[in-house]
Amino acid sequence: MKILVYGSLNVDLIFSVDHIVRPGETISSSAFKRSAGGKGANQSAALAKAGMEVYLAGKIGQDGLFLIDLLKSYGVNTNNVIIDEGSTGQALIQVDKKGQNSIVLNAGGNYRITIDEIKKTLKYFSIGDAVLLQNEIVHTKEIMLAAKEQGLRIYLNPSPFDEGIKSLPLELVDIFFVNEIEAASLAGMMIPPPNLPQRGRSSLAEMLAAQFPNSEIVLTAGEEGAFYAHKTAEGMHTEHCGIVEVPVVDTTGAGDTFSGYFLAGMTKGLGPAECLTLASKAASIAVSRPGAMDSVPYERELA
Ligand code: RIB
Repeated sequence: MKILVYGSLNVDLIFSVDHIVRPGETISSSAFKRSAGGKGANQSAALAKAGMEVYLAGKIGQDGLFLIDLLKSYGVNTNNVIIDEGSTGQALIQVDKKGQNSIVLNAGGNYRITIDEIKKTLKYFSIGDAVLLQNEIVHTKEIMLAAKEQGLRIYLNPSPFDEGIKSLPLELVDIFFVNEIEAASLAGMMIPPPNLPQRGRSSLAEMLAAQFPNSEIVLTAGEEGAFYAHKTAEGMHTEHCGIVEVPVVDTTGAGDTFSGYFLAGMTKGLGPAECLTLASKAASIAVSRPGAMDSVPYERELA
């Protein structure tokens, strides 16, 4: 089974700051780094580092060539990443003292992907393969429709969430990877639930599983861990896994690490509970290191 990640590649411009800048405020950073990112690229890196055969498709400019070298070094097949004369996507990232971040995106090549390129890329994949998508590129709807027609499984991480997500053919999704805000938005809740007790979070996952009966739901909830819900013929199957406590350095890319490792576990035949445990372990290593793609651990580091 081949996994295609059709997604973003970004140059991450990371500023280490005391606190996330407030409206009208100017602050100095204590460190700056230009490094590899983009939710699609990060997730493909996680899959590759977890030992999977993974293909990344997207678009960058000449300024993003280092991304290709890095991804190849992890074992990601980048033959379907197109290089043109425009600029690569960029992410302006502030990381505060507690490791929390705030991100501003500039789409760059992620929004220059064409329908024609999508058709050409999908020709390399067939029934039984899978495509993993996020929300940082254009034409996600067209990719979903064409992929399903070809018999591919569809995995969706609707991040960063916007109202456009609701107009996607979400009933085609086999697995959703969501955080609490994304889950609440998909479930049609007006306000994301702050300080929801653990039972409430499980309910949120179950609510989505009931709303999307063809889909498995994987919900990450920060310090509350991760939840799984799937409506089966026998009833609602739920799982929960707590976090592995580590000193948090930088949370950027932790969700991408989680999704990649969960899928790697599932593809290797692990059950949902084991996949949650594997993914949580990988994400805990990611948050203990700086950077996005750089922080994703190799499978051997999880032993
Ligand atoms: O999920 C983390 C990623 O989000 C960063 O690497 C940044 O590029 C943005 O896409």
